[in-house]
Amino acid sequence: MSDDIIYSAIIDEHYQEPRNFGKIENPDEQIMETNPTCGDTIAMYVRINDGRVSDIKYVAKGCLISVAAASILSENVEGKRIEEIETMNKKDVLGNLGLELGPAREKCALLSYDALMKMIRDYKGKSEDRT
Ligand code: FES
Repeated sequence: MSDDIIYSAIIDEHYQEPRNFGKIENPDEQIMETNPTCGDTIAMYVRINDGRVSDIKYVAKGCLISVAAASILSENVEGKRIEEIETMNKKDVLGNLGLELGPAREKCALLSYDALMKMIRDYKGKSEDRT
């Protein structure tokens, strides 16, 4: 069995049972992000307490890769400090999927990451406005 088949099984497992799927009522930040290449969307919500992502949820309408990537990302960032999340780059996120993806599929895999990073930037912008 090749590694690709094992990693695909992990992605498939997250697609079949996405972690943190759903909405947060009254989130600190929320966003709707669209993959311009296919029109698929993700709505993402976060709650932030004491500088940590205390809750993260999303509703993804997209392909297997985009849903699984959102599920894996949500597990990875829940409970983490914002500063820690900001150090995550696209390579880290793609590396967590364990699959080599072409450019079009990378856009699917990074949809949730782009949404999360925009929310973090917005949250920090608002925090700075308050100081
Ligand atoms: Fe639309 Fe992957 S094909 S997000």
